[in-house]
Amino acid sequence: MKPTVSTTPTSIFPDNFLWGGAIAANQAEGGFDADGKGLSTADMVPYYAKKDYANLSALMHVSSETIEQAIQHKTADGYPKRYGIDFFHRYKEDIALFAELGFQTFRLSINWSRIFPNGDDTEPNEAGLQFYDNVFTELRKHNIEPLVTLSHYEMPIHLVLQYGGWKNRRVIDFFVRYAETVMERYKDKVTYWLTFNEINTTIIEPFTGGGIVGDREDNVMQASYQALHHQFVASALVTKAARDINPNVQIGCMLARMIHYPATSSPEDVLQAQIDNQLNLLHTDVQVRGKYPAITQRYFADHGITIEQQPEDADTLQMNTVDFISFSYYTSLISTVNPEQYGVTGGNLYSTVKNPNLKVTEWGWQLDPIGLRVVLKELYDRYEVPLFVVENGLGARDVREEDGRIVDDYRIDYFRQHITQLAEAIRDGVDIMGYTSWGAIDIISASTSEMSKRYGFIYVDQDDEGKGTLNRYKKKSFDWYQKVIASNGADLSDLDNWQR
Ligand code: BG6
Repeated sequence: MKPTVSTTPTSIFPDNFLWGGAIAANQAEGGFDADGKGLSTADMVPYYAKKDYANLSALMHVSSETIEQAIQHKTADGYPKRYGIDFFHRYKEDIALFAELGFQTFRLSINWSRIFPNGDDTEPNEAGLQFYDNVFTELRKHNIEPLVTLSHYEMPIHLVLQYGGWKNRRVIDFFVRYAETVMERYKDKVTYWLTFNEINTTIIEPFTGGGIVGDREDNVMQASYQALHHQFVASALVTKAARDINPNVQIGCMLARMIHYPATSSPEDVLQAQIDNQLNLLHTDVQVRGKYPAITQRYFADHGITIEQQPEDADTLQMNTVDFISFSYYTSLISTVNPEQYGVTGGNLYSTVKNPNLKVTEWGWQLDPIGLRVVLKELYDRYEVPLFVVENGLGARDVREEDGRIVDDYRIDYFRQHITQLAEAIRDGVDIMGYTSWGAIDIISASTSEMSKRYGFIYVDQDDEGKGTLNRYKKKSFDWYQKVIASNGADLSDLDNWQR
């Protein structure tokens, strides 16, 4: 008798590993003024047809004038984050597609300004609460675990205009009230929470991350670090509240991990890379170790930064550290004391020095799958808490062919390479809870407000001006990722004879 040969590869991923995808409310929902929602920071961002991807900070810059014009502008026209992909009305259809993909988890954010339209309201907006109730019920119906970010670039604009954004300590109370409201309301539906999306954005993009308007500040850096401190305290207080509300909760911080390699073996470059990494990791240091790392003393002194703290802050941070670290990973960066030798390229949230060893996407983001393994190993060695990769994906210009097919082999290739490194990191002993790709479905780009920079497994028929049927179509990568999830990450092979 012939021996039977098993063709099913075995998986290195644990049985309880959570596979899924991610979106943010402001990039997907639309309904910017529906059911009592207030305006948020994201609603202030217009679409610029002319773009210089190597100069991202100019593209993402929001001034007092931009805000004034946006507030006068009463429709969604020209403001893509106001219309998104209409997830607000189509969430059932979209969640059914995620269920078909096999998602075990789905990462989304609650839009703060849908719950507390001005941020400082004393009572929440019931219609806003009901919307997320419906969404979570729908997810549960399909056995999909919600992974919910409390703050993903959706601060009520009123808090920016009246209080100066997160640099004002009073905002901590408003945020805690909002967080307690939603964590109490959804305690039977949501177990996994993240506090601030890419908390380091507050330093890189102070308006997007911290509601800091540059032209209103004498010293933007000072204001940003003060805002960041308030977010750290708020995150710790919310972590405490989450555990009081539901002892089974799992609450994590979220970092845009921007790993820096030295451009050369020169000690100067190595030191620069070390400093850049320390400054990126200070965010996880505070939220996981419960205190500012030593380097901040010198760094703050050198830059004339003084952080006002209350006497109780140190204990608050120390006693309420997170359960796990979540992070986004798109690219690695290089550090050098001679940046002029390398040229500049685009990147996640800011432009960066070009690494001659890496290929780039059309938007200039450098592709480095091995960097994901390096990051996973490094974070686990440093903190020894579980890790969750909550953003990783490829922004690309997909084409819907005449026969309706969307053949995104480049995306499959991207995910195959990154998931391979994820598996390698597990073999290296890293404890990884799950992986949510960015984004599950095409949404509006955070940095460029474009539609044509697509990340999803599901194509949405809409262009950069907001025209289109909004119909959803499965891409080739949809079938591929479905197979990956069904095999718990073991089968990353190509799709043979793919038809749709
Ligand atoms: C991350 C953000 O920085 O990158 C997401 O958390 C964002 O909101 C993602 O969409 C991809 O960036 P972009 O600018 O290409 O949409």
